[in-house]
Amino acid sequence: MPDFDVIVLGAGAAGMMAGIEAGKRGRKVLVVDHARDPGEKIRISGGGRCNFTNVNATHTFGRERFLGQNPRFALSALSRYTPEMFIARVKKQGIAYHEKTLGQLFCDGPATQIVSMLINDLRAAGASIWTGRAVGSIEKTTDGFDVMIGDGRVTASSLVVATGGKSIPKMGATGLAYQIARQFGLAVTDTRPALVPLTFEPGALEQLKPLAGVSTNAVVGHGKTRFEEALLFTHRGLSGPAILQISSYWRDGDAISVDLLPGEDALELFRAARKTTPKLHLQTVLSDRLPRRLAQLVGELIDQPGMIGDLSDKKLMAAAEQVSNWRLKPVGSEGYRTAEVTLGGIDTTGLDAKTMVAREVPGLFFVGEAVDVTGWLGGYNFQWAWASGWAAGQAA
Ligand code: FDA
Repeated sequence: MPDFDVIVLGAGAAGMMAGIEAGKRGRKVLVVDHARDPGEKIRISGGGRCNFTNVNATHTFGRERFLGQNPRFALSALSRYTPEMFIARVKKQGIAYHEKTLGQLFCDGPATQIVSMLINDLRAAGASIWTGRAVGSIEKTTDGFDVMIGDGRVTASSLVVATGGKSIPKMGATGLAYQIARQFGLAVTDTRPALVPLTFEPGALEQLKPLAGVSTNAVVGHGKTRFEEALLFTHRGLSGPAILQISSYWRDGDAISVDLLPGEDALELFRAARKTTPKLHLQTVLSDRLPRRLAQLVGELIDQPGMIGDLSDKKLMAAAEQVSNWRLKPVGSEGYRTAEVTLGGIDTTGLDAKTMVAREVPGLFFVGEAVDVTGWLGGYNFQWAWASGWAAGQAA
């Protein structure tokens, strides 16, 4: 007889959800993690307030807020376990929350409330939680799986791999899921850091550095993809939600565009200023709209020191282009050290979208960030973790 019905590797968002749901079905569940405490990423998420879902996660399939080789793969799980279902849990628990912006729901209080809720639910479902245990070799047996945990062997008929991606190794990210996938013949797509600040070569950085700490609302673009959110200048380059979002689309060698006056026609603004305030400098016109230090830098880049009244249409057009289509070429990103998620992962062609089971390996499930499904910033990644964990929990 196996020791357990289900072993879940990883006590993060997806693993705890899978364990809870399998336990509720009467399955004997073990959740294992090498970290000391479950749900460490939930604890630090959303600046400590956990942006636990996004109300738009199931209403925007066409907009492809989930990236991966097959963005439609996520739809089945996302439509079966919806944001409303997670919100209902949060409400039942009496956890206060609010919508911050763009459908993003955050706890009013500490994110640890979400962690406690999940641990309590796991216990209520009768699951065992083993933390601080290393996961060793995994073997397939006729009955299921034989897993080395610490220095003992544990068996189960189902194995749910929920060990996440590579982001933030300091917090215990290992890439174990990819290793297990390869062991059982599943493909793994290329992985790269995503939702991550972008970095610049020393020359460009020198120019941007004086702006460190400055934040402004901007539209940041890459190809046809655009995000209007806050842009933050840092000592290392560019960050803030708009940059984190575009980082999931940006590839080495590409440029990004920045529109510093979202929703405004910069040329119209300059032409109007030329008429009404001809004695002003461009930089002064801009400083009405932009933080002072940023207006100064953009003024330098435009390099039209004279009064606006003396500038030709051609010069105003060039200035408007600098403001509304500022081209910047990142050299890289801050990498997995600070990336919120990993783009790529276990190839979804090897998984069943309804249950997350490996098509060729009965009883083996992959959920959460380990899978090649990456959401936008704003609660989409937790919703994927909850939904994929829930899906596996119904079948494991
Ligand atoms: P997760 O990484 O959460 O869990 C994996 C678990 O497996 C960990 O507990 C780890 O210790 C364990 N593990 C790994 N290797 C192991 C091994 N070899 N042996 C045993 N155990 C192992 N998303 C969002 O929607 N809203 C938000 O507000 C945020 N905020 C945010 C902030 C920061 C700083 C980061 C880094 C990330 C976010 N995210 C987020 C992303 C979100 O945290 C992420 O998508 C989910 O945590 C993924 O859940 P998983 O359960 O798949 O992996």
